[in-house]
Amino acid sequence: MKVLGISGSPRKGGNTETVLAAFMKGAEDAGAETKTVRLVDLSYRNCRGCNACCKKGVCVLSDDITPLLEEVLSADVLVLASPIYSMTMTADLKGFIDRGQVLWARKFITKTLKFSDEHVKSHIGVFLSTSGKDTPHVFDAAFPVARAFLHDAGFSYKDNVLFPGMDEKGGAKVWTESSDEAYARGKEIAGRLI
Ligand SMILES: Cc1cc2nc3c(=O)[nH]c(=O)nc-3n(C[C@H](O)[C@H](O)[C@H](O)COP(=O)(O)O)c2cc1C
Repeated sequence: MKVLGISGSPRKGGNTETVLAAFMKGAEDAGAETKTVRLVDLSYRNCRGCNACCKKGVCVLSDDITPLLEEVLSADVLVLASPIYSMTMTADLKGFIDRGQVLWARKFITKTLKFSDEHVKSHIGVFLSTSGKDTPHVFDAAFPVARAFLHDAGFSYKDNVLFPGMDEKGGAKVWTESSDEAYARGKEIAGRLI
């Protein structure tokens, strides 16, 4: 059982990475194999909108996102993690998600990617996020974007792991309860598939 975490935070060791690490530790303690990928460490370009993927089901770009999308398809739990930037996910994560258009094309246009109902039921997608402010709806704009990608990639998506108000709480290193909660959520979510 493999849990793949993809972090869209440009800040290494920041709030999002801290709670994501706790989530992954929880998943590991539940018995899962885990891997975390930081998008900031990868080299990739944004989708060019050429629509070539709609003809052949293959992206014309070949870079670090190419193997990562294949890894996504072999994960049992996929965690998309991002801080909130300007009321939504970071450009790093959105850039990755746009590159997932090739999965959408394979699923709906070339029909070379199919997921059975059984597959979707047994694959869990999670959106994990932190924000500076604890304002109403601070995460709302990110949800449909995460949902679109997770559904295209064959995951059921019901679980959000959210930590608002990091500014007033002093950050994840000070607000240690956030990591405790992330750990428990990781253990519980991975435990569903073990
Ligand atoms: C460019 C930028 C934009 C941000 N926009 C928001 C925002 O719209 N709403 C909010 O609550 N916090 C916002 N924040 C604060 C971050 O979401 C918050 O500090 C988060 O926990 C940072 O996570 P990180 O340490 O993983 O980078 C912003 C931070 C940056 C750097």
